[in-house]
Amino acid sequence: MRQWTLEERYRVLQSPEEIRPLHERISRSAYRQLYHIQPVTGLSSDPNGFARFKGTWHLFYQWCPWGAVHGLKYWYHVSSPDLIHWKNEGVGLKPDRIYDNKGTHSGSAIVAGEDLYLFYTGNHRNENWVRTPYTCAAVLGEDGRPVKLPEPLFGPLPDYSEHQRDPKILRNPEDGFYYIFLGAQTLDKKGTVLVYRSEKLLEGWSFRGQLRVAGYEELGGMWECPYLVRLGGKDLLIFSPQYTKLPGRGESTNHNIYFIGRMDYETLTFTPEGPFRHLDYGFDFYAAQGARDPEERDKAVLVAWIGLPDDHYPTAEEDWEGNMSLPRELRIRDGHLFQTPPEAILSLREGEVPPEGRLLPACELCLRCEGQDLDLALFTREDGSGGLRLRYDAAAQSLLADRSQMALRFNEQLGEALTVPLLTPLRELRIFIDRSSVEIFLNGGEETFTTHLYPTGEEFFYRCSGETELRIFRLGPSVRDDFVI
Ligand code: FRU
Repeated sequence: MRQWTLEERYRVLQSPEEIRPLHERISRSAYRQLYHIQPVTGLSSDPNGFARFKGTWHLFYQWCPWGAVHGLKYWYHVSSPDLIHWKNEGVGLKPDRIYDNKGTHSGSAIVAGEDLYLFYTGNHRNENWVRTPYTCAAVLGEDGRPVKLPEPLFGPLPDYSEHQRDPKILRNPEDGFYYIFLGAQTLDKKGTVLVYRSEKLLEGWSFRGQLRVAGYEELGGMWECPYLVRLGGKDLLIFSPQYTKLPGRGESTNHNIYFIGRMDYETLTFTPEGPFRHLDYGFDFYAAQGARDPEERDKAVLVAWIGLPDDHYPTAEEDWEGNMSLPRELRIRDGHLFQTPPEAILSLREGEVPPEGRLLPACELCLRCEGQDLDLALFTREDGSGGLRLRYDAAAQSLLADRSQMALRFNEQLGEALTVPLLTPLRELRIFIDRSSVEIFLNGGEETFTTHLYPTGEEFFYRCSGETELRIFRLGPSVRDDFVI
């Protein structure tokens, strides 16, 4: 792996021409995605500023232009009419102020009146590399480029660590106030969320206190990227706890979890109805953030980063990595979160192919079964060896996913097999394959599983044993890999 100096990682992009050759080179990679948002060059990580505004979906992602490295972060902007067809819009926010001199870090969006507002973290570092995170805002201009407020809204609190970032902006219709939920770490290194409140969106912010999630005061060392939404009469709280291992999740110390419960804005208490669950039971899913169509009360849409903070992927050798997950519609039914791909995904189907043992670089597999044991291997070699092994154990009601038999292995140290626990017997799998990712929706979105995967030229077969009905659809491209800065 390439070693980067601090100067290389934090170099400011002066002109698009500096990265055009990199884009031209990586756009020829066999692992460039066909229907997923991916970095124009370099690294993409957290989704940011996701919103529907005047009929268009806007999304930004954390972007480091130079390569597969976490360095100076920009917000790169993409837009879509339908959550499936995305257009590159160019740089959204760039680190060009003293208060964000070392990165425009993660944040969220809100539509108010006739405008789309973006809230982000200005990552300031001084000459001794001491960090001061600022909560900042911008408004999307007429030309589609954000215009920053001249000053940050507020700085960090002294009685928490330097980790105070990722503002989630929302309005509570019950009391009429705006709230910012900020991911944070206490001085004794516990993860938490800081809650701020204001009557007005761009001024008057005051700290109200620390969010209480009863029973979870010891969960991880930093809660990144908080997200809160009211759905179907319940509150859904999502965040990414770091610096901790969780049962059944291998050696990973980065997670993305959710609680369903009730948010009390008076006491700043979130009361969960039950234990947390993982948003996704795969290897690579982090920093998810949602948005809501203002017309939909019971449905939100979620996007996550297919990737994890401390890890790297085989395309790092090509100087790029990471991409966005497919957007997922979220609904709460019978106290459980269901996640399903948006309707418009059907528009990518270019016809059905006979299930004769071969996969395509972009395809959807729909598999029905009757809750019996099942053994499915994707991306095997022609002789059936290798592949991503998916084994459903009816007695345990869980699916074991093992990627250790793939030719190109990565992040082995985290563990290469994970289990997806199901609430009900396995009836259905919808599997979305793109050139370097696999996303699985189980039982109508009851649980999901996401992983990067890098099949080599020989690994494009599958085999399946068990009582199943399998259909395969060829999928067309929907995200243009063009160079827009
Ligand atoms: C999560 C995160 C955020 C931060 C951003 C910086 O992956 O660490 O907490 O704002 O990435 O890129």
